[in-house]
Amino acid sequence: MKKRVAVIGAGPSGTAVLRAFQSAAAKGAEIPEIVCYEKQDDWGGLWNYSWRTGLDEFGEPVHCSMYRYLWSNGPKECLEFADYTFDEHFGRPIASYPPRAVLWDYIKGRVEKAGVRGWVRFRTPVREIEYSEKTGKFTVTAHDLVNDKLGSEEFDHVVVASGHFSVPNVPEFPGFKTFNGRILHSHDFRDAVEFKGKDILIIGRSYSAEDVGSQCYKYGAKSITSSYRSRPMGFKWPANWEEKPLLQRVENKTAHFADGSSKDVDAIILCTGYLHHFPFLPDSLRLKTANRMWPLDLYRGVVWEANPKLHYIGMQDQFYTFNMFDAQAWYARDVILGRQKLPALEEMKKHSAAWRAREETLADAEACIWFQGDYVKELIDLTDYPSFDVEAVNQTFMEWEHHKAENIMGFRDNAYKSIMTGKMSPKHHTPWLKAMDDSLESYLNESRADEAAKSYAKAK
Ligand SMILES: Cc1cc2nc3c(=O)[nH]c(=O)nc-3n(C[C@H](O)[C@H](O)[C@H](O)COP(=O)(O)OP(=O)(O)OC[C@H]3O[C@@H](n4cnc5c(N)ncnc54)[C@H](O)[C@@H]3O)c2cc1C
Ligand SMILES: NC(=O)c1ccc[n+]([C@@H]2O[C@H](COP(=O)([O-])OP(=O)(O)OC[C@H]3O[C@@H](n4cnc5c(N)ncnc54)[C@H](OP(=O)(O)O)[C@@H]3O)[C@@H](O)[C@H]2O)c1
Repeated sequence: MKKRVAVIGAGPSGTAVLRAFQSAAAKGAEIPEIVCYEKQDDWGGLWNYSWRTGLDEFGEPVHCSMYRYLWSNGPKECLEFADYTFDEHFGRPIASYPPRAVLWDYIKGRVEKAGVRGWVRFRTPVREIEYSEKTGKFTVTAHDLVNDKLGSEEFDHVVVASGHFSVPNVPEFPGFKTFNGRILHSHDFRDAVEFKGKDILIIGRSYSAEDVGSQCYKYGAKSITSSYRSRPMGFKWPANWEEKPLLQRVENKTAHFADGSSKDVDAIILCTGYLHHFPFLPDSLRLKTANRMWPLDLYRGVVWEANPKLHYIGMQDQFYTFNMFDAQAWYARDVILGRQKLPALEEMKKHSAAWRAREETLADAEACIWFQGDYVKELIDLTDYPSFDVEAVNQTFMEWEHHKAENIMGFRDNAYKSIMTGKMSPKHHTPWLKAMDDSLESYLNESRADEAAKSYAKAK
């Protein structure tokens, strides 16, 4: 009988797994039956935007953490699929920092071309996974939401690709219960226009803090105060944005900070990150980690060491994204196909420990990028995923870092060379700060000035 593989999630990581198997089949390999369970009604994971927050129409937690007007926060040249370029998808070179809808279109394009949509069961969240030592199989229980039916099936392998930027980490600060304004987590942030004319307090110092604050600035917030726990972000912020040490308490609308200063604010946005959350997995199979570059217990960042029939994709903190998920997916596929032999448990643990030891020496974002680049290279050298110049990707990340340091509100106006095609990307037709329309149509229309920007500027 054919082996069966369950994939949990059809985001960029899950679809990478589908494409990996399909590409092996296209080259003549006999592949297992693949069943991909997806809780949402379409694929693309976080890139599949929803206006909803809280629970969806079935009472399921909304997966979406993205918001309107979200543009890529890194150059698209660093995440380009090596087997499906932006040029192939759009028919011509496009600018370097696409908005969400453009990247969603690109992600979907590759798997639509691969013809694997039939492998996905949409609107079907996985509820429970059990492993039987006796049969050597997993039982996956999932909920067909549309027909309201729970069903269980057996699989030889499971690949967990359910993402880790969806379940918010929500700390509480003294006085929150009586704060006279809105408190939300970035997971529930949807439209910066809501904060036009308002004094905003952001908690956190990472990418959500930077980008949610920048969105609020772009769409007309009166002031932005960002409050950090470890250290300031340190960018050259606009005049109405200041950084403060950690919030200590709020009283009515007044926020008090660790340096003794205070500020009246209308809303508090907790950009305090996310939890790795796998409620469908038992203790023995569940990855328990913070958001870091090298989670433990995963051989080569992918294989669950305690039971190598279980795989995880995309669980690391991410500089590299789509092409790293591909590198992992191709590797997981080859383990499942028996093309990769795994060493004994002790060897696996030693290998992971060496990566973890190096991870602990990483002092800044640049060091993390080189680390992750080396990891991606290790994986792509093991499989037939099209090889690409990882060092050139790292160099593009370095340029990105410098562009951000130069101008945090203007770094998205730069363009970079595709590592996959060698072609230089064009600059976008409208500076990011003035580009209010984030639709695919607007982004791809090189010839027209941004009408939405003009009318918005007029209205302001
Ligand atoms: C606000 C925000 C902005 C980002 N911006 C960028 C960016 O600009 N560039 C970039 O490269 N990366 C960005 N990222 C990083 C993002 O993590 C990756 O781009 C990518 O979406 C990760 O893919 P994934 O498939 O691992 O996870 P996800 O995209 O989260 O997809 C996981 C999928 O699993 C499904 N799922 C979850 N639980 C279950 C279950 N129990 N049963 C069935 N299905 C389930 C979900 O519905 C979802 O479709 C951003 C992340 C966030 C939060
Ligand atoms: N396309 C885009 O523009 C865009 C926008 C947003 C997010 N993203 C992506 O989304 C992913 C998640 O980013 P993220 O910023 O949400 O999470 P993150 O990178 O994990 O950062 C979490 C932040 O929360 C802070 N924090 C946690 N608990 C705290 C507490 N109790 N008090 C104060 N601060 C606390 C941390 O502070 P310390 O660092 O001080 O510990 C850190 O700054 C990243 O991959 C990012 O690239 C992309």
